[in-house]
Amino acid sequence: MLEVVNLRKSYKDIDALRGVDLHIAGGEIVGVLGRNGAGKTTMASIFAGTCPLDGGSVHIDGLDISRRPVPARRKVGYAAQEISIYPVLSVRENLRFFGELCGLRGRGLRERCEEVAAAVRLEGHLARRGSDLSGGEKRRLHTGIALMGRPLLLILDEVTAGVDTQSRAVILALVRKLATEGAAVYYSTHYLPEIEEIGASVVILKDGLVAARGAIESVVAEHCQPMVRVVFSAEPLLGPISFPTRRRGPVVEIYADAPSVILPRVLAEFGSASETIRSVELVQPSLESAYLRVTGEPDDETPLEKIRDVALA
Ligand SMILES: Nc1ncnc2c1ncn2[C@@H]1O[C@H](COP(=O)(O)OP(=O)(O)O)[C@@H](O)[C@H]1O
Ligand SMILES: [Mg+2]
Repeated sequence: MLEVVNLRKSYKDIDALRGVDLHIAGGEIVGVLGRNGAGKTTMASIFAGTCPLDGGSVHIDGLDISRRPVPARRKVGYAAQEISIYPVLSVRENLRFFGELCGLRGRGLRERCEEVAAAVRLEGHLARRGSDLSGGEKRRLHTGIALMGRPLLLILDEVTAGVDTQSRAVILALVRKLATEGAAVYYSTHYLPEIEEIGASVVILKDGLVAARGAIESVVAEHCQPMVRVVFSAEPLLGPISFPTRRRGPVVEIYADAPSVILPRVLAEFGSASETIRSVELVQPSLESAYLRVTGEPDDETPLEKIRDVALA
């Protein structure tokens, strides 16, 4: 449904996208992760046709968005990062307005408004003004607006930012349902558990490039290893450790498939340095630890390949 090859975009001297390849099939949800400034919104706005690309190509349902922008854009529903509803219009009027932009009229438009209002659980609020909705209700309306034209490609840019648990559950259930019905979904978020909850595969963007892509399990397996993480009160003086080890100041990470099994031996090898241990954690690979590894922990200097080399040596 979405085929992106070598996508590039710069804002003056900032290279926001530096050659992104991405494929999203119909029925697939891709959870797009990355630190602030990684390029998630730039990419979303290019797919939605609100921002021109500088290089590479984007095809939506086979249509090249640079050559055939109008029909390509009709396939897309876009909920931008910033909430864009009309505060003075009611929920119904907001849905009607955006439905008209999608070419709906008359009975079809009325029915679609009812359907979408029900899908985002605002059916009891159709007459309320946009400005009078709660934060979560605004996000739901904003998300609903993106559905009006029955898009084949749905672009949702941080649609659950700052919403309450109930609104989040409504939105996540809706995203899953739309994918089940065949839509391709680009879903950017900072909430990693959502990715697992909606059954998405993962793209991790870093500095305008795809740094990891795949099913959650494969991204986790590729970028994370089980370990014992020991934090000392200060950088410790340690003798040789018989497992692959990575040190960052007071933090020492020891890699092994079964961290709990090696723990006694590790503590013995620490010798008297053990007295200055502040905490010991048995870390199992998770999406969060993979994400941190890929996007960089604040004081992270050692690339994973280095650790692998040690492990193989
Ligand atoms: N309109 C703009 N003008 C100049 N720089 C921009 C603009 N939009 C985004 N950027 C820059 O492009 C990079 C990517 O931003 P963005 O796509 O918003 O990232 P994300 O959504 O992942 O936080 C950042 O360095 C950001 O500062
Ligand atoms: Mg953004």
